[in-house]
Amino acid sequence: MNLKDSKSKLVFSELSDFKKIAEIDIEKINQAQDLEEWKIKYLGRKSFLTNVLRDIKNYDISERPAIGSEANKIRKFLGNLFEEKQNIIKNNQQSSLGAFDYSLSGRIPNIGRLHPVTQTIREVCSAFSSLGFQIQEGPEVEWDLYNFDLLNIPKNHPARDMWDTLWIDEEEIEGKKMLLRTHTSPMQARIMEKNDPPIRVVIPGKCYRYEATDSTHEWHFNQIEGLAIDTNLNFTDLKGTLYDFARKIFGSERKIRFRCDYFPFVEPGVDMSIDWNNDWIEILGAGMVHPKVLESVGYDPEKYSGFAFGVGVERIAMIRHGIDDIRHFYGNDMRFLSQF
Ligand code: PHE
Repeated sequence: MNLKDSKSKLVFSELSDFKKIAEIDIEKINQAQDLEEWKIKYLGRKSFLTNVLRDIKNYDISERPAIGSEANKIRKFLGNLFEEKQNIIKNNQQSSLGAFDYSLSGRIPNIGRLHPVTQTIREVCSAFSSLGFQIQEGPEVEWDLYNFDLLNIPKNHPARDMWDTLWIDEEEIEGKKMLLRTHTSPMQARIMEKNDPPIRVVIPGKCYRYEATDSTHEWHFNQIEGLAIDTNLNFTDLKGTLYDFARKIFGSERKIRFRCDYFPFVEPGVDMSIDWNNDWIEILGAGMVHPKVLESVGYDPEKYSGFAFGVGVERIAMIRHGIDDIRHFYGNDMRFLSQF
């Protein structure tokens, strides 16, 4: 074995040590400056690796290709390590820069708004409160007594069919049954029970019916009940009040039509429509409070009279905004909701 031979053996183990140390060294680096120094030390002109390649002629001729290829492999490997590290340092810098970059414009926070149904409830209520009506709310879970019996709809009355009811699945409590109110009218009885005339009140609230949904029916929806009781109220008061309300909400040119309708708790009963796009659209039911209802809450029907009405809130919002499907209101789709 000549001198060149033993030198060749040595260079392989030296190269392998060199590579290991370079790897361990770069591991600790997290600054661009240190990385540059590392590059000079391990890949620079004066590095061991460059020396080996430059002085390849000092090795035995038969060993030169193997040494050359090994050294180049290591050069490539370390070059890759360098690039990887460079990227890591760059990314770190960018993300820490981003957190402190005051020159970027801020994100506009998402500010909520009132649901179109809530907006409509508020507008309708304020139209009535400007006419002297108070605003009150009531329970959505109701006794059948208030939802039906006190409103002149006894147990086996066919009018109960008009309200497909969601019953609360409980045993009867002292002969009373619970339900999700099918209209806001039970509040008529509740208010008269607790107050003496004169009464002027509107009651907004959610109602529930066991119904299939379609573009004009939801299984839950909102109504605004109205009740006025006094010593001398008659049908012209009902008409005048509702005219005024409709014009406040739909504009002063609005035409209004009353037709006879049947609700067990009023007599006479009507429904009211407004003219809209050359058509009549029904927006509420109303009537003079039935003497039996007045009696059932202990009022003297000879002394007191009054009127009641029930406004369909979603219907009004749909007309005003040109919405063609009631189900949009409860679909929670921001593309729909953010338009109002
Ligand atoms: N409660 C009735 C309904 O749900 C509406 C109405 C209220 C009618 C008050 C007359 C008087 O359809």
